[in-house]
Amino acid sequence: MKDTAPRTTRLADYRPFGWRVTEVHLTFRLAPGATRVLSRIRFAPLDHAPARMTLDGEGLTLISALIDGAPVSPDLTTDGLTVDVPPAPFLWEAEVEIAPEGNTALEGLYMSGGIYCTQCEAEGFRRITYYPDRPDVMAPFTVRIESDLPVLLSNGNPTGSGPGFAEWHDPWPKPSYLFALVAGNLVATSASFQTAEGRDVELNVWVRPGDEGRTGYALDSLIRSMRWDEDRFGRVYDLDVFNIVAVDDFNAGAMENKGLNIFNSKYVLASPETATDRDFEGIEAVVAHEYFHNWTGNRITCRDWFQLCLKEGLTVYRDQEFTSDMRSRAVKRIEDALLLRAAQFREDAGPLAHPPRPDTYVEINNFYTVTVYEKGAEVVRMLASVLGPETFATGLELYFARHDGHAATIEEFFACFQEVAGDTLDGFARWWTEAGTPRVTVSRHWDGETLTLSVRQETLGGPRWIPLAVGLLGPDGEEIAPTTLLTLKDTEAHWRYVPSTATWETCSAPNGQPKTDGAPLPSINRGFSAPVLLEAGMTDAERRLIFGHDTDPFNRWDAGRQLIRAGFIGLVTEDREPDPETLAAMGRAVRDDALDPAFRALVMGLPSDDDIAQTLAEAGRTPDPDLIETGRERLREAIAALLAGDLRRLYADLAPVGPYRPDADGAGRRALRCAALSCLSVVDGPDAARALYSQADNMTERLAALSVLLRLGAAEDALADFHARWSRTPDVLDKWFALQVGSVKGSRAVETALRLTRHPDFDWRRPNRVRSVLGTMLRHHAGFHSADGAGYKVAADWIVRLDPANPQLAAGLTSPFQTWRRYDGDRQGMMRDALERIASADGLSRDTSEMVGRILG
Ligand code: PHE
Ligand code: ZN
Repeated sequence: MKDTAPRTTRLADYRPFGWRVTEVHLTFRLAPGATRVLSRIRFAPLDHAPARMTLDGEGLTLISALIDGAPVSPDLTTDGLTVDVPPAPFLWEAEVEIAPEGNTALEGLYMSGGIYCTQCEAEGFRRITYYPDRPDVMAPFTVRIESDLPVLLSNGNPTGSGPGFAEWHDPWPKPSYLFALVAGNLVATSASFQTAEGRDVELNVWVRPGDEGRTGYALDSLIRSMRWDEDRFGRVYDLDVFNIVAVDDFNAGAMENKGLNIFNSKYVLASPETATDRDFEGIEAVVAHEYFHNWTGNRITCRDWFQLCLKEGLTVYRDQEFTSDMRSRAVKRIEDALLLRAAQFREDAGPLAHPPRPDTYVEINNFYTVTVYEKGAEVVRMLASVLGPETFATGLELYFARHDGHAATIEEFFACFQEVAGDTLDGFARWWTEAGTPRVTVSRHWDGETLTLSVRQETLGGPRWIPLAVGLLGPDGEEIAPTTLLTLKDTEAHWRYVPSTATWETCSAPNGQPKTDGAPLPSINRGFSAPVLLEAGMTDAERRLIFGHDTDPFNRWDAGRQLIRAGFIGLVTEDREPDPETLAAMGRAVRDDALDPAFRALVMGLPSDDDIAQTLAEAGRTPDPDLIETGRERLREAIAALLAGDLRRLYADLAPVGPYRPDADGAGRRALRCAALSCLSVVDGPDAARALYSQADNMTERLAALSVLLRLGAAEDALADFHARWSRTPDVLDKWFALQVGSVKGSRAVETALRLTRHPDFDWRRPNRVRSVLGTMLRHHAGFHSADGAGYKVAADWIVRLDPANPQLAAGLTSPFQTWRRYDGDRQGMMRDALERIASADGLSRDTSEMVGRILG
């Protein structure tokens, strides 16, 4: 099953399929090495239907094919078949054989720990049977599963079962990528939910026997998601059952198959002893995300894969709103901005840059990116801000009403908002069709009475709408103008603040000598209202004023972050000591009990090494990974030395008061307490971490303690203890692997990763385990970039080794190479060599070869 020469798919080439599919019947006779799939599919020609029909199919053994009951002999190709068909509606019947047991790519029908399961997005259904495997072909499915396994599941509602079989019917027309089947020895944790329309829905979370004690949080998250989607978006569930199944081997996080979501067990299984606060938050968000897809993705799907962000951007926006309502809106916004800046800005600045709606691809699996997901969500968020909540809600209602049951495009989605706004919103749509992060420069002009802001954007492909939420602070930090949205629509605009009416009005460019005395200070891009690189020309003193006083928590945090980053850069490039005033300001925030502990923990978080490297590269300097790593240590020492007293008090004061609860408050307290512990250990040594490791009643603190011990080289006993406790719990053992690689310095991360790949519990066929060890090494900046090239070599060796078994997993691991042009000549040369070695591997998958080709440019 070798890949043919890479073929580029273009948006401009989109053509509808020539037939409607009116009915799909599938029968599965399950056997690990030889599963038979019988399909009965009714096709009805459209006006433009040709005389021959092409169906997708990969790795299938065709046993028989009939049209209207008469045997036919289709022409078989490596990626499907073609066959003569009548010019009227007809019945296609085919029987194929597939081997789920040998399916290591985890696409199509495969097995995970004895459980049959499927993954069909984006193009996995063609590995199950011959079909027009494209999202704009939607049909109702009926499925019969024949097997002796106790639990047999598919999409829709159950319609019958008996010894050795079960039948399902999904009345909602769906594309093939939402098909799912599960069969195995599973146990459910169940609940019932009554929808706003009065439908009783049976909810089940299915796991392997033994894991049923760790399903409660996922089930509870599902119930809250269903209620919230009714309340907030008026979206009601539409089947009698909703099943979630957890499997250990899964390439992604989870999948929204209609009525039968399949999850990576990492996003289902949780108890205080096994899951961290971050895991709980992740489970809540992913359960919600997949559930929300029922409307944004399933009821309304994508016309073609170029429209992926239609479902993903919108659904991420919805899950972000959900988390904001369940937890802290301010903290969630900071977390999302952190991810966007770290991963999406980086992607947009390098060789993998693409618009949220790309217009070409070779392998669609390579486009499940932070740009499509997170930037896609930012675009929806900006649309909501520029329209205002009511108009946005009306536009979304129109979208749901108009496109329900159809496969839509970004243009059709956008048209709903243009219509209700009565405005073409010209320039806004470039957010979907152009790549790159806009640079926005703001300059100020104060004439003693009036403040004027001049705002300019530098963007690829013409000016975009850039909504900037702006407020004004007085000289003592008091708010003198509340948040107002100024939307930049052209390359440049000027606004002046009119105090008498408390409004901003557009004006011409200011002239005259600017004054400084008594000038108000603008707080710009509050709440990260636009995902841009902002240059506001602020002094450190102004940043400290915002950091200490702004009413907008995002900008407070961001000002602190800018100060710390400037100090970090100074330390790395000029060996300058961290600025005491910055550290003092940080200390005041960390000590301020009036602030949310979660926010204070975020204030203590230092920019990542990769973030510093990116900043240096943007300033035209060559980042030195070792200097950055030592710079971080020294910064930590400086903070610890200055704040030790406060941190000791915090550590004591924040000790748990009751049993562990995975809510936002508890998580915030633990985050701050663990940040204090980690910082303090620099001056106080490992004792507190040792004590915490053995006393903690939850994984969050235990893991934080273990990480400190690893960093101090004092973790041997704790590591052995951890392994002994959790060696039979794969999701927890993954943490044990990842932490060891992530918590050591420089090239030791590579040695550790290499050593762990030889550990008896390392299993290179399990994506989660591979990502724990190799993924962590690749994200370890000083490790991956260690000067001897060992990180690059280990990465290349493993990518080449994993690629034949699991192309998606291998291709995903190439992405840390995207920054290769940032570094010195030696490193660049070694990275290029590693990439070229991967590129020249025999039979390299389309997935990995596209990634490597794009990275090399
Ligand atoms: N559609 C899934 C989601 O966003 C992600 C996914 C993509 C899963 C492709 C598997 C394969 O929820
Ligand atoms: Zn999704």
